[in-house]
Amino acid sequence: MRAGDHPVRAVRDDLPSRAVRAVTRLQLPDSTALHAQAAEGCRISPSALRNVEPILAQLDRHAPQTGRALEIASGTGQHMVRYAARRPYLTWQPSDLNPANMASIAAWRQASGAANILAPITLDAGAPGWSAERGPLDLIVLVNVLHLIPEDTARTILSEIAAALAPGGVALIYGPFLRDGVPTSEGDRRFHESLRAQDARLGYKDAAWAAARLTEAGLTLPPPIEMPANNLMFVARAQG
Ligand SMILES: C[S@@+](CC[C@H](N)C(=O)[O-])C[C@H]1O[C@@H](n2cnc3c(N)ncnc32)[C@H](O)[C@@H]1O
Repeated sequence: MRAGDHPVRAVRDDLPSRAVRAVTRLQLPDSTALHAQAAEGCRISPSALRNVEPILAQLDRHAPQTGRALEIASGTGQHMVRYAARRPYLTWQPSDLNPANMASIAAWRQASGAANILAPITLDAGAPGWSAERGPLDLIVLVNVLHLIPEDTARTILSEIAAALAPGGVALIYGPFLRDGVPTSEGDRRFHESLRAQDARLGYKDAAWAAARLTEAGLTLPPPIEMPANNLMFVARAQG
């Protein structure tokens, strides 16, 4: 799926699809828009169109074939239907902090006709304790969230992911990161600084910091995978 395959009816900046805990609206380079060709209510995010194929390639390599999967921060829901098609014997639970995203996630789910996608739920993954209710999970996917939330929230999300995984379960965590405290490109530096200008607690986390949080939470992980556009994918596994 490529950006050019999906004409966009209108680009709106007033959509509350980017959230920080209490659904704070951030100014981000990409806005979501209604999908001109999909069923009513399906929104698209340009960045999700761009990154879905590389993410699917890692899903192919690392995701279990069966069991229970949770997508944290499903956003528009467009990734979810691709993941679920790729792993049809996993039961997929889409979720997001922002209740306003539920309609688009539900629209994508309905349009896909997939039997292995559950109805979306509102989940604040930065709230301590959700792992007890939602786990044990065989797969958790988190894409493009950690840079948009404060460090203490990111810390909680990573420890709750670790606690929610079943023995041998896998977490795929994708996004932009600092390397040794430094952005990887001029564009990344600008984006990182624009986030910090909106809220000093936001911005890219360091890759080593994220790896340390996952390790101290008991997960094992190889060095993160280099992804297009300077992004990284962490593949973190629970022992068992
Ligand atoms: C940039 S969007 C990414 C959406 C989707 N993963 C994608 O790649 O298209 C960030 C998402 O994170 C969600 N979010 C922010 N804080 C969250 C939290 N504490 N718990 C769950 N979702 C959160 C927002 O509501 C938003 O949908």
